[in-house]
Amino acid sequence: MKKILFVTSEAHPLIKTGGLADVSGSLPKSLLELGQDIRIIMPNYQALNRPENIQFRCTLRVNNTDVNILETRLPGSAVIVWLVDCPELFDHPGNPYHDEYGNAWPDIAERFALFCRIAVEIAMNRGYLNWKPDIVHCNDWQSGLVPALLALEYSRPATVFTIHNMAYQGLFPSATYSYLNLPGQLWNPDGIEFHGMLSFLKGGLVYSDRITTVSPTYAEEIQTADFGYGLEGLLSHRNDFLCGITNGIDTDQWDPAIDSLIAEPYSIKDLHKKVLNKTALQTTLSLPVDKKIPVFGLISRLVEQKGIDLVLDCLPEMMKLPLQFVLLGSGNKSYEQRLYNFADLYPEKISINIGYDEALSHQIEAGADIFLMPSRFEPCGLNQIYSQRYGTIPIVRKTGGLADTVDDTLPDTLRSKTATGFVFNDATPGALMEAIKRALIIYSLPKSWRELQVNGMERDYSWKKSAQQYLSLYHHL
Ligand code: ADP
Ligand code: GLC
Repeated sequence: MKKILFVTSEAHPLIKTGGLADVSGSLPKSLLELGQDIRIIMPNYQALNRPENIQFRCTLRVNNTDVNILETRLPGSAVIVWLVDCPELFDHPGNPYHDEYGNAWPDIAERFALFCRIAVEIAMNRGYLNWKPDIVHCNDWQSGLVPALLALEYSRPATVFTIHNMAYQGLFPSATYSYLNLPGQLWNPDGIEFHGMLSFLKGGLVYSDRITTVSPTYAEEIQTADFGYGLEGLLSHRNDFLCGITNGIDTDQWDPAIDSLIAEPYSIKDLHKKVLNKTALQTTLSLPVDKKIPVFGLISRLVEQKGIDLVLDCLPEMMKLPLQFVLLGSGNKSYEQRLYNFADLYPEKISINIGYDEALSHQIEAGADIFLMPSRFEPCGLNQIYSQRYGTIPIVRKTGGLADTVDDTLPDTLRSKTATGFVFNDATPGALMEAIKRALIIYSLPKSWRELQVNGMERDYSWKKSAQQYLSLYHHL
């Protein structure tokens, strides 16, 4: 049995802005089920969905700041969660990265530097918790200083750093480095300095014993200039210590047969009931109720990564076809405005829902026929996996985890019963539109469509396999 400290900035259902929370809320549960002693550490944000059973554990002092460690459990599981409680930094309205108006926190470097320092204290068992991990598993730049600071300690635990997204690096001016009072040994181009800037991400990439990312294809892609953001050389250099492990999904939360957030549960056996979720969705969103019309769904952060511009460019042509389009997301204000403009023009065909809505995200997965995910890059992506489980056929661009989890519909994949979606190559509206038209042709052939649905629904995307891969990685350390 390994003792694992899992360091993350978000974990569902405590707090979530994206897929990192889904992973942090489900991988530790699977590792616990595999008999490991795993504990999560994360900040005690004001916006936390606060569980009832929170207990004070101890007070720690780092960099002249006193911080309390509170203990609770990940709701719905026995996984212990340690909350880093520092009200000056974390007790403010907003999400982990933005204030309530959507502006990045001006003191975000200070917030996560303190968080990392506390994680190091606990990793070194200086936290009066009487528990020393064998492995410290860090996630994304917010925890990047942990492997760097631990590298300066004697008799330290082994470190794993998982890249969920290279696009976010925690880059700050060099003055921030001095302001944060970080140890001088780390400030050099082979350390956490990146072209004269402080890079939290480099802390993870340079100093961790193993680097993982969330799909094998993305592990290759980030070693190229197109996806590496200038860190491709470092990643190629560390290639022997880098691997891709595809994310699993939490099948307690994402299973159409037991999903309490959807109108009508269904499974392969009673797949005809899926349409009741479509009519319920149309009713909820005030679209004309029509069982036959193909409904396209999209749930996403509205950022460049997700190829929202490609969808916007396709919408005029899509609107000439008999279909409905339902979107849930938030982010870039100009995308939001352009989407609203289309909804004003085509209220009978488009429903744009700006905001974050857990229940609606499940209802779209259950009610839509086709799911759009034309990402420019996608480290793993979860919605294309949820879609397959819900019999909602994904249209994805061939990149990262999308390439690894969706099989294109072609004569031979239809024959071998491996087709689960529609895959296109170029990040152009023309290529996306072609995939949409291919999907509509198969949609008009109910027998083939059902085959695609069943192929996807039968796939095992639970965490079991991937958690085993993490476990064998831990054992190699
Ligand atoms: P990323 O982490 O890059 O945002 P993923 O596909 O890995 O992409 O995960 C996104 C997660 O966030 C999914 O669980 C998705 O359903 C959820 N999500 C994204 N936007 C919203 C939203 N507006 N409302 C509800 N859930 C959302
Ligand atoms: C990131 C990526 C996404 C991935 C998620 C969880 O946010 O953008 O592709 O699924 O992390 O690993």
